[in-house]
Amino acid sequence: MGKLIIKGGEKISGEIRVQGAKNAVLPILAATVMADGISVIKNCPCLRDVDKTDLVLERLGCNVKREADTVTVDARGMCDCRICEDLMREMRSSIVFLGAIISRCKKAVVSMPGGCPIGLRPIDLHLKALRALGVEIREEHGYIKCEAAEITGGGIHLDFPSVGATENAMLAAVCAKGSTTISNAAREPEITDLGNFLNKMGARVHGAGSSVITIDGVEKLRGAEYTIMPDRIVAATYLAASAITGGEMCLRGVNPRDMRAMLHVLTEMGAEIKCEKNRIIQTAPNRLKSVHTIRTMPYPGFPTDIQSPFMSLAATARGTSVFIENIFENRFQHVDELTRMGADIKVEGRSAVVRGVKELQGANVVARELRGGAALVVAALAANGITAVSGTEFIDRGYESIEKYLLSCGANIRRE
Ligand code: EPZ
Repeated sequence: MGKLIIKGGEKISGEIRVQGAKNAVLPILAATVMADGISVIKNCPCLRDVDKTDLVLERLGCNVKREADTVTVDARGMCDCRICEDLMREMRSSIVFLGAIISRCKKAVVSMPGGCPIGLRPIDLHLKALRALGVEIREEHGYIKCEAAEITGGGIHLDFPSVGATENAMLAAVCAKGSTTISNAAREPEITDLGNFLNKMGARVHGAGSSVITIDGVEKLRGAEYTIMPDRIVAATYLAASAITGGEMCLRGVNPRDMRAMLHVLTEMGAEIKCEKNRIIQTAPNRLKSVHTIRTMPYPGFPTDIQSPFMSLAATARGTSVFIENIFENRFQHVDELTRMGADIKVEGRSAVVRGVKELQGANVVARELRGGAALVVAALAANGITAVSGTEFIDRGYESIEKYLLSCGANIRRE
């Protein structure tokens, strides 16, 4: 297990150009298999999850080349429609390949993705959406086997605005016969990014980013060039890293309009936020105020992915904050570790009551999942003394060289 050794107390101030969005690049790379051509994806972050997605593409027979932040995918040689167990277990979000593979090959076999540290992560909504498009699905021996003589457009209603299910439905529908309507679709900005990329490939997707998406099926798709949107969760994590230390942070290459719910909370906690076209400038007070209640909700509500880093903020704020986690059933694993650092947090089911303390203490803590790990880094930056955060393999799944960015803003941090 890799470690980050952090000596707290430094103000985190400076300027960061935010990386491309992990949760946009994964479905967009999956979509490239549908083109009998070459796609060039720019602003790809250097992350373990992107590396694993590149591996899935290669196993499917695509030719993948990475140069700096650009990934070039030649899908003309695609010759397989299966994603095996080891890759699915390594990265459950590979499930988003399902719709793309079926669209290209009219069949697909993937290992059941299974759960992950933050919850069971069922895929019933994904499969229901695909069945609505005429895909026959058999679940046997731990595999999902899909087949469709023809994919026919239809009406899909999602009981919950699932991001992944919306993405799989879009990927399966773009070359269907006829039109498809997806209602109660997820509205996350990453969905809009996927819709924009699909349209550059020649698809006819309307309303991506709204709760009703309509797709007119087309014969075929071509390779396209696309630049991934900035990562709004990573952006908010760096704002939190600066805010907890009373620093001044300027983020470049961000879309403030995608971050309204998070910026609103930071303002409520006492940070001064100035938004320009693609920049956010934040000045934090020496000590933040508590936030009355944070409820995680589907977009445009407060994102579940930033719940844990913002709980670190609340842990040293003045007053008591309440967090309610409505999206995943097991997303408070960072609480035990923050408590080891002196935080005063009481968890009752999906609620966590955080009573701010003046100062956290450095300690040895363990990251058990991606965003909880980021929360421990944020807390360590303000803690008194040295913190060793182990489990960097989780953090590296979503944060590109986190220590490099924080070092450039004055942190006392090193990777071991
Ligand atoms: C995406 O996961 C993101 N991952 C998650 O980010 C993010 O937290 C989540 O959306 C919510 O915004 C990627 O994009 C790769 P969901 P996804 O389907 O698609 C239930 C991170 O840290 N559900 O919107 O899996 C599910 O159990 C990751 O970057 C069903 O019940 O999220 C959960 O309670 C973590 N049946 C809720 O919906 C289904 O078929 C939200 O899940 C699908 C989902």
